[in-house]
Amino acid sequence: MSGTQHVMVIGGGANAEHEVSLGSAAAVREALAASGRTVTGLAIRRDGEWETLSGERISLAAAIQRMRESDVVFPALHGEGTEDGTFAGLLEIVGVPYVGSGVRAGALAMDKWAAKLIATELGIATAQGVLIDGEQVCGDPAGLPFPVMVKPVASGSSYGATRVDSSAELTAAIEHARTFDDRVLIETFVVGREVDIAVLRGADGTLHISQPLEIGKDADAVFDTALKYDAEPDFVVPAPLTAEEGEAMRTAARALFVALGCDGVARVDFFIQGAEIVFNEINTMPGMTQLSQVPRMFAVDGVSFPELVAWLVEGALARRTRTS
Ligand SMILES: Nc1ncnc2c1ncn2[C@@H]1O[C@H](COP(=O)(O)OP(=O)(O)O)[C@@H](O)[C@H]1O
Ligand SMILES: [Mg+2]
Repeated sequence: MSGTQHVMVIGGGANAEHEVSLGSAAAVREALAASGRTVTGLAIRRDGEWETLSGERISLAAAIQRMRESDVVFPALHGEGTEDGTFAGLLEIVGVPYVGSGVRAGALAMDKWAAKLIATELGIATAQGVLIDGEQVCGDPAGLPFPVMVKPVASGSSYGATRVDSSAELTAAIEHARTFDDRVLIETFVVGREVDIAVLRGADGTLHISQPLEIGKDADAVFDTALKYDAEPDFVVPAPLTAEEGEAMRTAARALFVALGCDGVARVDFFIQGAEIVFNEINTMPGMTQLSQVPRMFAVDGVSFPELVAWLVEGALARRTRTS
């Protein structure tokens, strides 16, 4: 496509990842402008209202009108109420091509419990887990030895996620996770390396698998909000993996991307525990700044950040052609 494409980038969102999404949106706008496209932006405020880049409040109807006037929308939105299929649903109704996964993939991927069940069915190992929904429990909590990880079923950026070493701390951790989602997941704590990989669907439908990226941290530490955002995280890319580990991870990531029906790019996060690849979670709109994981994974293969973002936009436009 020519350089006259008009791309609308959306950031923010009424959830815990508001700031992270604003960061992604700003980086995506800059990258798209660098590749000669016409770029505009809108943001969803913390209260769910819409605003322009200059901070002027506009109505949802006006926001929809602006999206309709663009060739393609790039929702650089992370977390609940956006990345979970909600925003894709709005864009389907608006009828404009958009970057990233559709409603079903976004919803399934955001639900850590559902994603776990699908992974298990595909023969991909996951940490043993139990779902807590109010008084209701799915699974056997007695079968989970400490330490465990307690986390909201649908959140992100490590918000609400706590390592729990004894039963005395469990209730407080569950209550904390509940402030992010009514449904809470308790998992055995996996001691091991944390290695992530990305899958991207190109304009012709081909799946491209990135280099793996390892998060530099202690094997029994949590990659928490402080490690993620207070300083530049320590990423090793390509992660030093054996041929078998690399192959197992690529195969599992591809299978999950396909099973969930993802589009655009998804980051699939694993632990390596002993010789085993253990699936943790999948993100359908991963962080999108130049220093974020996915851009760094592709950068080592020579794909610059502006090229990656342009690739996603072309994929979104081609999907409309492929599916209509
Ligand atoms: N079962 C687990 N065992 C060990 N560490 C875990 C487990 N689940 C999550 N973590 C740690 O917590 C971090 C955040 O959890 P994650 O499930 O990735 O949620 P988020 O969507 O908030 O990133 C992970 O990057 C990892 O460091
Ligand atoms: Mg994570």
